[in-house]
Amino acid sequence: MLLVHLSDLHCGRNSFSPRTLERAIKEINSLEPDVIVITGDITNGGLIDEYKLAAKHIRKLKCEKILLGSGNHDFQHTGFLLWEHFFPKPEMLTLKDTLIAHLRTARPDRDTGEVGYRQLVWFGELLKKHRDKFKIVALHHHLVPIPDTGTRQNIVVDAGDALRALMGGDANLILCGHKHRPWKLKVENLQIVHAGSVSSTRLRGFFSNSYNIIEMERGSFNVELKIVSGERMGFGKILSGYDGIRLPAALRIGDRPATERLSPTK
Ligand SMILES: [Fe+2]
Ligand SMILES: [Fe+2]
Repeated sequence: MLLVHLSDLHCGRNSFSPRTLERAIKEINSLEPDVIVITGDITNGGLIDEYKLAAKHIRKLKCEKILLGSGNHDFQHTGFLLWEHFFPKPEMLTLKDTLIAHLRTARPDRDTGEVGYRQLVWFGELLKKHRDKFKIVALHHHLVPIPDTGTRQNIVVDAGDALRALMGGDANLILCGHKHRPWKLKVENLQIVHAGSVSSTRLRGFFSNSYNIIEMERGSFNVELKIVSGERMGFGKILSGYDGIRLPAALRIGDRPATERLSPTK
C-alpha cells in the first residue's frame, strides 16, 4: 500500500507557491497512491478565497481515499466555520487492514494545539475497537518537540495525555505537520513522522518544499522524503544534517556539513 503524506499547503496570496503545489500534485498523481493524508494548514489564513483555492488544488489529486485534517492557520479569521462547508468528509478511513484517523488539534484563532479530554477518551476507544488493524493517526501539531522549530509551544498542550492514549491504544504511526520541518523519531513503539511544507515559502531547517512517501506492507513501513521537482531520499539523510538547500553552483560555499562550517574552532 502506498501512502503519500503532505502538509502545510498554505494556499493564499502570501508565502504560497502555486507552481510548486501544481508540480507536487503532478508527481503525486504519477505515483498512483492508495491513500493521501494531508495534515493541515491547507490555507494561509482561513479566508474564504483561500479555502476556494485550496479546494481547487485538492480536487486535482487523483486518489479516492484522501484524509484531510485541519491546522491552526485554517481556523484563523473564523475559518473553522468554513472547514465543514468545504471539507465535510469524515476524518477517518479504513483501507484493507489499516485504520487512518485524524486527531483534531487546531482551535479557533489560536496557534497552540490541544487534543482535549473528551476527544482523547473517544479516540482511545476508537483505537481499541480497531485493535487488529495497523493504526495511523494524523494530527497537525507536534506531539513531541523536534529541532529547528523555535521556542514557542508547538506541541499540543496536553501532549502527555495524548501520548499515553495513543500508546495505550497501540497506535503504530503518527503523522504530523505544522512547523514545516521534516523529521522522524520514535517514542517507545510509536513512530512519529513530520512532513515539511509542500508549497509554502516559509521553510525552516529544511529549505526545499517536500512531501513524504510511505510504503506499507504487512505491518511494516518505510518512509521516504521527496523534494518537489527533486530527489527522493531516506530520512537518515535528513536526520544527519542535510538541509535541503539547492543553490546554483556559483553561490555554493562548499559541500561541508553546516555543523563543520559553524564550528567555533575553525
Ligand atoms: Fe504551517
Ligand atoms: Fe500550523
